[in-house]
Amino acid sequence: MTSSNDIRATFLGYFARHGHEVVDSSPLVPRNDPTLMFANSGMVQFKNTFTGAESRPYKTATTAQKCVRAGGKHNDLDNVGYTARHHTFFEMLGNFSFGDYFKPVAIEHAWNLLTKDFALDKDKLLVTVYSEDEDAAALWRKIAGLPDSRIIRIPTDDNFWRMGNTGPCGPCSEIFYDHGDSIPGGPPGSPDQDGDRFIEIWNLVFMQFLEEPQGTRNPLPRPSIDTGMGLERFAAILQGKHDNYDTDTLRAIILASAEATGQDPDGPFRTSHRVVADHLRAGAFLIADGVMPSNEGRGYVLRRILRRAMRHAHMMGAAEPLLYRIYPALERQMGAAYGELIRAHALIIETLKLEETRFRTLLDRGLGLLAEETARLGAGQTLPGDVAFKLYDTFGFPLDLTQDALRAEGRAVDVAGFETAMADQKKRARAAWSGSGEAATETVWFDIKERVGTSEFLGYDTETAEGEIVAVVADGSEVSGAGAGRNVAVVLNQTPFYAESGGQVGDSGVITGPEGLKIIIRDTQKKAGVFLHLGTVESGLAAPGQAVVATVDHARRGAIQAHHSATHLLHEALRRRLGDHVAQKGSLNAPERLRFDVSQPTPMTPADLVWVEAEVNARVRENAAVTTRLMTPEDAVKAGARALFGEKYGEEVRVVGMGFDAASTDTHGVYSLELCGGTHVARTGEIGLFKIVSEGAVAAGIRRVEAVTGATALALVEQNERRLVEAASALKVSPADLPARVTALVEDKRRLEREVADLRKKLATGGGQAANEVIGGLRVALRAVEDVPPKDLKPIAEAILADGETDVVALVSTTDGKASVIVMVGAVAKGRADAVALVRAAAAAVGGKGGGGRPEMAQAGGPDGAKAAEALEAVRLALAE
Ligand code: ALA
Repeated sequence: MTSSNDIRATFLGYFARHGHEVVDSSPLVPRNDPTLMFANSGMVQFKNTFTGAESRPYKTATTAQKCVRAGGKHNDLDNVGYTARHHTFFEMLGNFSFGDYFKPVAIEHAWNLLTKDFALDKDKLLVTVYSEDEDAAALWRKIAGLPDSRIIRIPTDDNFWRMGNTGPCGPCSEIFYDHGDSIPGGPPGSPDQDGDRFIEIWNLVFMQFLEEPQGTRNPLPRPSIDTGMGLERFAAILQGKHDNYDTDTLRAIILASAEATGQDPDGPFRTSHRVVADHLRAGAFLIADGVMPSNEGRGYVLRRILRRAMRHAHMMGAAEPLLYRIYPALERQMGAAYGELIRAHALIIETLKLEETRFRTLLDRGLGLLAEETARLGAGQTLPGDVAFKLYDTFGFPLDLTQDALRAEGRAVDVAGFETAMADQKKRARAAWSGSGEAATETVWFDIKERVGTSEFLGYDTETAEGEIVAVVADGSEVSGAGAGRNVAVVLNQTPFYAESGGQVGDSGVITGPEGLKIIIRDTQKKAGVFLHLGTVESGLAAPGQAVVATVDHARRGAIQAHHSATHLLHEALRRRLGDHVAQKGSLNAPERLRFDVSQPTPMTPADLVWVEAEVNARVRENAAVTTRLMTPEDAVKAGARALFGEKYGEEVRVVGMGFDAASTDTHGVYSLELCGGTHVARTGEIGLFKIVSEGAVAAGIRRVEAVTGATALALVEQNERRLVEAASALKVSPADLPARVTALVEDKRRLEREVADLRKKLATGGGQAANEVIGGLRVALRAVEDVPPKDLKPIAEAILADGETDVVALVSTTDGKASVIVMVGAVAKGRADAVALVRAAAAAVGGKGGGGRPEMAQAGGPDGAKAAEALEAVRLALAE
């Protein structure tokens, strides 16, 4: 059997042999197209190459492209599982010519590859051409020798391919495979063309036009070629199957699903296994490309796909979350061709598990409600929209899940009613908000905005500017004036102060005005597009109508933007080091530090951090100018800028570029290119120095890097160095010798600890010395030891007393010629012997004076260590008295 992996390799290999560049699949989230939710065909990543906006170092290319068709123009979600050839995720094999070859060569390649390399039977192939495209028909006759009966002219849009509502397009010619007359269906263009007998396997698009937003169509600079072959359906043919789900890759996942659920792969749950297999592929690949389940945008499409699969898992009686358990089967099938599956393994597993665990509790209850509601309906009656909405709102049922659940009963959902219920809820939320106490304060900002419009921000170019006070708010409402000592929010018509957003904290500074007005500004925030300068009036009276000068705290702003620019470099460096799944999940740019959260399943290694830190610092030393351009979001993404999922951008966006990377084609030689409204350094050298402070987990699949720049980074380095010098001098070595010295000390310490432990044990057990003496009816241990420091005598004496055979202990230790003495009196001897008296007697023998303690324990010392025996004798005598 020819495996899917072999087919992919043969296809790419054929075109590589014919001079095509083998280009990696682009991520599923398009980098260059704000109009498209997911990559849905091979040409998406080349869109700008076709239009001539982007030039690449090659003129022909071939790819195996990951595609998702769910949400947007091409949406196959509803049919998946029920048909032989619908998928949310599939692979498209393609070859491309950017103004190089055109129709004749494209047709020749397709024909040769199919009939020679893949050895398909010529008689089973037929083609369609756009009815006006006589050229293509003639070429098929000439190159393939196809008779006119197998060159079908189609007058409809089916043979005019568009990626979306705008973009490159052109007539196309589709190659069909005839699965034989045992399968019902007619050839393309015939009334029963939707049958399964004739299956389209390859679409050759002759790109000739660029469709503009207004619907006009202009010729492309040079005619080009874009082709797409669905790997799954082609594999079905080569593997002798009629159903894509019976081909190797999908079948392997279906079998894993069957094994995990104990349900026959081809039994009553056949559809469910297929839904699970298809949706797992879409889900895992989306997660690998940085999409996370959420309630908006791409994240919501992912959630819909996953939840639909999870309902089917639930139907099959899976007692545990299922998807993450069968993911390894997918990774085994496709990991070799798509390394991102392996790199994002942990992220995928964790995300699938978490989403399914959370949803299962809601799913049971939601299905219960659904059953109750449908029981009330007559056969075939539509489910009311408000019920579908309740399932959505309370139980997290995407509309398509509810539709899918009702499909088997042949029941539909009142979609219009669902949408009305959704709109009503939004209205209620707004009404509730404007009625609440807190919102009453907030409405102030809306009123100001209505009256004076949004504030104009001048702070990209200047840190000081004149403006007019248009409103002063104190204690939650607008005032006509605020005097010294009052906390205020001041609104200006224009301002250089940056209001907190996009992770960059708000500016602080000062506003001065007529008659000694001075307002100290601590922070700047934004509400409804109005910038609020939050601070305290220091002197004068702040009142609307005054012309003032607003001055940003320059040093603080400088430090903030150094952190912000460093964050951009860090983002790109992390992506390069860890992979394309790295996407920004949160950030903070403050004067004293930066914090950056990214989707990344596993902890970064020390080597990762060293690499990333060095990479960022290299870009800093490059001292490249930071460029900022204003563009429409579309143009920005076309230019290769990284945008955030789910972020709403206005009509114009700022695109910040920094650093050089000649090899980067998608960003036109710029190292980092991001959509960003923040403020930045003028040149990367201003960042000065970049130091990572920590790296850790914040949530499943999300890691946080904290770092510092400039003076703060230098202070950190200095502090570390000071500590190093202090430690080295304490150990009397040079800092360079410190590691070796510390290692030696640690070893020494370990050895000594072992020795002390041994010693104690020996002493405690008598150490081979004389056994206890009985003096005056008490059992007495008298021992002389060597080199035991005075502080260690007590635990040793305690250990001896604890043996249960000793009532009094006296130890004399000789260290450096001096003696230390300890006497301990146990419970039995209490009142009959006094440790203080005994220790004094011993101390006198070694030339010491005094000695102190309590009747149970006393210690003393003396200069004459040679007299240890005398000291013990003195104790003996004192006890005998
Ligand atoms: N872009 C063409 C398609 O998707 C090849 O069918």
